[in-house]
Amino acid sequence: MLKVLVIGSGGREHALAWRLAQAGSVETVYVAPGNAGTAADKRLTNLPITDLEELRDWALANAIDLTVVGPEAPLAKGVVNLFRASGLTIFGPTKEAAQLESSKDFAKNFMKRKGIPTADYETFTDCEAAHAYINAKGAPIVIKADGLAAGKGVVVAMTLDEAHAAVDDMLGGHKFGNAGARVVIEEFLTGEEASFIVMVDGKNVLPMASSQDHKRLLDADQGPNTGGMGAYSPAPVVTRDVHEQVMREIIEPTVRGMAEDGIEYTGFLYAGLMVGRDAEGRTTVKTLEFNCRMGDPETQPIMSRIKGDFAQTLLAAAKGELAGVTLEWDDRAALGVVLAAKGYPEAPEKGAVITGLFDEDDAHVVFHAGTKTAEDGSILVSGGRVLCVVGLGDNITAAQKAAYEAAAKIHFDGMQMRSDIGYRAIAREAS
Ligand code: AMP
Ligand code: GLY
Repeated sequence: MLKVLVIGSGGREHALAWRLAQAGSVETVYVAPGNAGTAADKRLTNLPITDLEELRDWALANAIDLTVVGPEAPLAKGVVNLFRASGLTIFGPTKEAAQLESSKDFAKNFMKRKGIPTADYETFTDCEAAHAYINAKGAPIVIKADGLAAGKGVVVAMTLDEAHAAVDDMLGGHKFGNAGARVVIEEFLTGEEASFIVMVDGKNVLPMASSQDHKRLLDADQGPNTGGMGAYSPAPVVTRDVHEQVMREIIEPTVRGMAEDGIEYTGFLYAGLMVGRDAEGRTTVKTLEFNCRMGDPETQPIMSRIKGDFAQTLLAAAKGELAGVTLEWDDRAALGVVLAAKGYPEAPEKGAVITGLFDEDDAHVVFHAGTKTAEDGSILVSGGRVLCVVGLGDNITAAQKAAYEAAAKIHFDGMQMRSDIGYRAIAREAS
């Protein structure tokens, strides 16, 4: 029986831990540091350690069989290198491989060299040169902080004024600190987005079910970019043909290209896609970004649909033994709605009391993210994205209904929630 450690504290980690705890081969799942939801789940044990060396020592002392890493920050800091050096089994990319996410410039340069389809771009550290490039290219245009900025370092500028202001903020005003000391400026792409997440063991690739998230704060994809306000799986835009095209044009060349460069990729690999059309009407798939981890909130609907013993899949992936491994999926669709704190994403307010939480059943689950348990046992808001309520149903329309019915039971002061998660998929289902 396996002892598993999940690193992180968000909704993604709650969903991973929740699914792993149901695996037949798992004895215990520890979550470090976890949240109020993982604390309340009797199958999970929170571990109040965030220092990576301390975590490694704890994993060694407690004979942890498998570690899986949720967020990008510990990956970019080299948690996989650290654990592996001590002989521990961990699933995730090394610090070097995680640059596919931790540096937009690294990722764009890699894609250019390997012929992987993505938006045309230039990288800048100099304000004046960036302004001149924007004037030459015109709007709309996209400005991205080079480093990690929790999904918020991207400005899709519809006007020249917005584009210049974004450059001033990042390069001049140091809005994202070091992460924004270098910016990537790229061509604006049109089409429909999807999240394409696979497991990679260095050589072999095992695709997860497709998914799609909504990154903007407000309905109709308006307002500022966030980490994600909701997601669903499967994503109908990823048809069988699109799936094959993405594997052939993006995923396989990426895994092969990293190995060619001497940076073997292991871990979840997430390609943010723009699915569009060229002038001749042929379908195009372009990479908007790579993430070196699963998506949040995409993981919540994906884990809600995965069947079988996921710990064994992760173990095979961590050991380079993914060849021939398959995944089984619930035929139902799953849709997750994020309940966010007042002030998110700019300045989330903490401390509001959450009421109306309910027990999961076969068609509804609540995953926690920014929550903590107060001394009197009540559950409080402690971060920007607070909860993700997942509903399952025969199609996206039914899953959406289940998710919103469940979300309506929950309340906290200032709660923000989009009312239209899944609208594109639902329009497809209606037509
Ligand atoms: P990223 O973090 O790079 O995925 O960017 C966040 C969001 O900004 C994406 O999900 C898209 O909605 C949007 N975006 C990023 N790059 C582009 C682009 N080149 N063209 C249009 N929209 C983009
Ligand atoms: N939902 C987008 C991300 O995890 O990056």
